[in-house]
Amino acid sequence: MKKIISVVGARPNFMKMAPVHKELSKYKSKIKHLIIHTGQHYSRGMSDVFFSELELPNPDIHLGVGSKSHAEQKARIMVEFEKIIIKEKPDLVMVYGDVNSTTAASIVSSKILSEEGRPVPVAHIESGLRSFDKSMPEEINRMITDILSEYLFVTEPSGVRNLRQEGIDEKKIFFVGNTMIDSLKFYLKKTAKSSILKELCISEKNYALATIHRPSNADSKVNLNKILNIFKSINKINPETEIVFPVHPRTLKMIEKFGLRKSFEEIKNLIITDPLGYLDFLKLTMNAKYVITDSGGIQEETTYLQIPCLTLRENTERPVTSEIGTNVICGLNERLITRKIREIESGKFKKGRTPRLWDGEAAKRIVKILLKKI
Ligand code: UD1
Repeated sequence: MKKIISVVGARPNFMKMAPVHKELSKYKSKIKHLIIHTGQHYSRGMSDVFFSELELPNPDIHLGVGSKSHAEQKARIMVEFEKIIIKEKPDLVMVYGDVNSTTAASIVSSKILSEEGRPVPVAHIESGLRSFDKSMPEEINRMITDILSEYLFVTEPSGVRNLRQEGIDEKKIFFVGNTMIDSLKFYLKKTAKSSILKELCISEKNYALATIHRPSNADSKVNLNKILNIFKSINKINPETEIVFPVHPRTLKMIEKFGLRKSFEEIKNLIITDPLGYLDFLKLTMNAKYVITDSGGIQEETTYLQIPCLTLRENTERPVTSEIGTNVICGLNERLITRKIREIESGKFKKGRTPRLWDGEAAKRIVKILLKKI
């Protein structure tokens, strides 16, 4: 019996792991799959709701690390995870995406030697993505995790190119598609259960959906003010368009710290909500007129769903979404954003295509490869 440990910790990890867990469950006689939750995200709305909606079992072990400074968060995950890996002696550790939990777990795994004197191999799901912007904490996380990984599972062609350029051994690179899209495809039909449109009193294709949480936007008063102005210009372009804004805890904290709460609340047509569960958020995305975001995953989900997406960042580590998908990288350039919104409103916005291998089968490909290798 082989043992695989998956390490997850933050909201975007859960939907990336769910299809892998489901696929591994088919091989219960061969593989024991343990789920370790670091507790990087700990509130119900950022964590537990995803486990129940994605039909994931409770984590086998919860490290309860919580929010800390970057160094303290990673360090605590490393100390706690080291104990687990020594006790459980896994044959493989799987990590997902680019959050602090991903990198902390991969550093620990690659430092523990098995009885044969080899480090525990790491499989990185969503490998190879690069924004080439080292001021993003996630970029550093991606680079470190990839260097340490033995199996690099890539979602889009740019990932393969980046890894080759960094001199990663070709035999370690596997272009398999996107497990987050596996989840999206699988759960789309279950969004019928969600009554979020009714709850918010909005109707299909009559609202914009906005999410902001990147430190570069959320932690800067100047940039939060620019985002306020962008919301106001949505009103000016079409006073009928509502803006649904589920606020990330980080962003809420900063809005309050900078004394901007009232200014946001005063914007016409702005509906502020708590962070939403997976199915409600999916329902909102698929029915939105357009999406404004600085998230990585939402750029991909909107491309798959062919919903216009305006990304409030200067770059993307997911270039396929802007090259062939429905994404436009706008930064906080209000003129560009208003031009794009006008294109959307008048039906002139570009149409997208689905990236290769975003077909709902990525987890199957990953598990097939791992069954042969471990
Ligand atoms: C993290 C990831 C980011 C991912 C995002 C999705 C890193 C470096 N960043 O950013 O890549 O896109 O998650 O949400 O790992 N908080 C709560 N409840 C929670 C979790 C967090 O209130 O359940 C608050 C805390 O006060 C914390 C803040 O949100 O200080 C930020 O949390 P943190 O885990 O540091 O990073 P995120 O900004 O969520």
